[in-house]
Amino acid sequence: MKVTVLNQHNSVINQFLKELRDTKLQKDSMRFRKNIARISSVMAYEISKTLQFQTEQVTTPLGIAEVNTISDSLVITTILRAGLPMQEGFMEFFDKAECGFISAFRKYTDKEHFTIETEYLAAPDLNGKTVVIADTMLATGNSMVTAYHALLKNGQPKRVILASVLGTKKAIDYVEKEIGDNAELWIAAIDPELNEHSYIVPGLGDAGDLAFGDKL
Ligand code: URA
Repeated sequence: MKVTVLNQHNSVINQFLKELRDTKLQKDSMRFRKNIARISSVMAYEISKTLQFQTEQVTTPLGIAEVNTISDSLVITTILRAGLPMQEGFMEFFDKAECGFISAFRKYTDKEHFTIETEYLAAPDLNGKTVVIADTMLATGNSMVTAYHALLKNGQPKRVILASVLGTKKAIDYVEKEIGDNAELWIAAIDPELNEHSYIVPGLGDAGDLAFGDKL
């Protein structure tokens, strides 16, 4: 599986990541959501360079211009709920894309053990399309792999792009083992550890709660 890590080269992404991690700044949930969206827009721009293009003619007030436009049929899918700001960021640039949504949540069997459950899936036909699956925190890789298998019941995409803001090597190894070369991963940064509650360390905390508030 090809893995592209955006913070390997210094860019404005580092600033957005710093703000996401900062315990003081992340209290501002609007800024938190916005920073996830901004990272995702930059990621969308980088991904756009790898898409397929076609040449089209456009009529300007002064003549005809030839422009290259994206020919891939894009579907941006999101794992609820922390993935929603990623969806917003991707759609900022891929505004003609179709969208898909899938829920994935931790169902705890006891204090330390959980399974990933999906309940809700709304996605278009994926046959022949370029499908992005956005999961903000790639902590264990379980949600991403579960979402991948659930979404692919809607058809065989031409290309699958897994997109995350923050992840761990452990999660990437798991996704690689389960999905391999059937997908590629684009991620803003990789952190060293997972703690005993499967949270990324140093990470940023619970992305869903920080973006949308605590849940019961
Ligand atoms: N989900 C989060 O929101 N944060 C983590 O660190 C891991 C999973």
